[in-house]
Amino acid sequence: MPSPALIDPHNRHIEYLRVSVTDRCDLRCVYCMPEGFTDFEEPADWLTFDELERLLGAFARLGVSRIRFTGGEPLLRRNLPELAGRITRLPGIRDLSMSSNATQLEKHAVALKQAGVSRLNISLDSLDPERIKAINGRDAHRRIMAGIEAARAAGFDPIKINMVAMAGVNDDEIDDMVDFCIRNSFVLRLIETMPMGETGRNASYLDLQPVRERLKARFDLLDAQLPGGGPARYLRSADGRFSVGFITPISQHFCDSCNRVRLSVDGTLYLCLGQEHSFNFRPLLRANVSDAELEQAIHHAIGLKPQRHEFTEKPQQIVRFMSMTGG
Ligand code: GTP
Ligand code: 5AD
Ligand code: SF4
Repeated sequence: MPSPALIDPHNRHIEYLRVSVTDRCDLRCVYCMPEGFTDFEEPADWLTFDELERLLGAFARLGVSRIRFTGGEPLLRRNLPELAGRITRLPGIRDLSMSSNATQLEKHAVALKQAGVSRLNISLDSLDPERIKAINGRDAHRRIMAGIEAARAAGFDPIKINMVAMAGVNDDEIDDMVDFCIRNSFVLRLIETMPMGETGRNASYLDLQPVRERLKARFDLLDAQLPGGGPARYLRSADGRFSVGFITPISQHFCDSCNRVRLSVDGTLYLCLGQEHSFNFRPLLRANVSDAELEQAIHHAIGLKPQRHEFTEKPQQIVRFMSMTGG
């Protein structure tokens, strides 16, 4: 009998699975997917909802309690609220969240909330329509803002705003973004660019450590813990009304406390965002193996998890774009 908990070779407890439900996206963020990219997974290779429910059920039996839907843009997968409902009903799942670019949220926020999605993280790199067009590749400002508003109206709380901070591109907007998040009671998260694919490598890196010190002093912030399963380190105002998180894979990596793995739409489990180690579950699912064999395969895959990323030492290493694993 395999042991129930998933402990990796570096003694970390894996309890968070990020599930990319599609590798397609309606934006083309400069740091993510290149303009003109067409090499998407074939629909025949996408895990079906039945296959996802079965595989995620097996992860849940082994102690995974948090699931996050990612993309591409997850809402481009048809009937996503139906999948959300099926996943929240799996025994052991206590947190189903989603990372989205918000362009389709106006249509789907209510259905997602009703299906049991508890938390939303939304990408927003600028408040300026022209800049959004330049950074995110499409004229999407109106749809994104309407999507954010729909998420709030549907009752999502907290809403975290993910801003990829880039030197000379949008770093002059960080304080405006702080004000926007204070006004709207959103949690702001600033993210360092990662060298995923040539897009990620070409993005203009900004070290967030000085930004952290500056915001800490300017807004009188204190270290804090916030709910969530990810790598952000938070600061909070003394009255608790504003929090800002820093995701700093380059300037201060967080691999020692890594608790997560990621599944791509074709059933490949990637053990680390910054490494190629992987295991494909699709053949097993399509061969209809037993629950015990599936659980054994999950243990085997977790055994492949490397100790840490090597973004700094080997920035050329990862050729896949962020959209293929959803970050
Ligand atoms: P919470 O549960 O709210 O904490 O979510 P999260 O921060 O885990 O999820 P989100 O999808 O919002 O990710 C925010 C950023 O963190 C994205 O740029 C991800 O690529 C990055 N990120 C998440 N997990 C990892 C990781 O294991 N390694 C690295 N290098 N980056 C990660
Ligand atoms: N570096 C850092 N963050 C990235 N994201 C996409 N590509 C990159 C990259 N190369 C972010 C998105 C989103 C999250 C899921 O990943 O902006 O907030
Ligand atoms: Fe799409 Fe997200 Fe990649 Fe932007 S970062 S292109 S929104 S998947």
